[in-house]
Amino acid sequence: MFIVKRLLWSLRRALGLSPTQRTFKDLRTRNVRTGDLAALEVFGHTGFLHTLDYARKVSSLEVWEIDATKERDLRRNLPQAKVKIGDSFDELKRTPGRFDLLVVDNPVQVYGDHCEHFDLFPDIFRVAKDSSILILNIAGNPWPRPDEAHLARRRAFYKTDHPENVPFDRMIATYRNLLHAGGFELEWFFTRRRTWATRASYLVLKIGRKEPLDSSFKPMPSNEGARRKVPRRAFLPALTYPLPHLDWESAEALSYHAADQRVYPFVEMFAELASVAGC
Ligand SMILES: C[S@@+](CC[C@H](N)C(=O)[O-])C[C@H]1O[C@@H](n2cnc3c(N)ncnc32)[C@H](O)[C@@H]1O
Repeated sequence: MFIVKRLLWSLRRALGLSPTQRTFKDLRTRNVRTGDLAALEVFGHTGFLHTLDYARKVSSLEVWEIDATKERDLRRNLPQAKVKIGDSFDELKRTPGRFDLLVVDNPVQVYGDHCEHFDLFPDIFRVAKDSSILILNIAGNPWPRPDEAHLARRRAFYKTDHPENVPFDRMIATYRNLLHAGGFELEWFFTRRRTWATRASYLVLKIGRKEPLDSSFKPMPSNEGARRKVPRRAFLPALTYPLPHLDWESAEALSYHAADQRVYPFVEMFAELASVAGC
């Protein structure tokens, strides 16, 4: 069954339908030149789960992983990458590297002393360029596999009484605050549904330093044009925009988030069903 799952994942990848590949298309729709990005994969595993989907679409790739038993597969799957075996939380504090794209494929659970991506803040800002994209794994709502330790960490991180079902705008407010405290601003964001069973998603945050440290700072384009390029979805934010507390960007992201809960291509669904069935 493991082989079936791998085959389905490979088929999905070959068709360009994986959530990661679709996230990269979303970025290009937003005028981000993905081929120019220096990327960091903070949690590497073997690279098979999603790093393979974008490894050849970026200008450079560095991958970190704590488990030395993954190193051989990691190097075989991603021959173009610079691989570091060690604790990513420590590496964030000491690496001299700076990246345009920070991909945080965190476990969506408590692992060791850590939970999800929560302890990466604020150190993750150390390795971000003045204009960067941060991709996080976020838990779906409601999260189907809660345990008490996980819920307690979510309660504290998102400052919510509903850690099992954190409202999306509460999440965004949390990241906005963290960014602000780290000297960055949230320029735009969107989500892309990742798993059928657990409803986990990518949260893609375009961040910019409030006062650039780098004199050659060139901001990436805003997504102004992108909105005009995807008029078929324009009616969705238009429905949510009138809600008093939402600006257009939030309305747009919320409605994309809602649409992603339903729009799910066949191959992705089969791959997910295979994994639910324990393949
Ligand atoms: C969801 S997997 C990553 C999948 C990977 N991005 C891919 O494309 O195949 C999470 C990985 O994080 C690693 N990990 C957990 N804690 C870590 C830490 N403190 N430092 C580095 N890696 C860690 C785990 O060993 C695991 O391989």
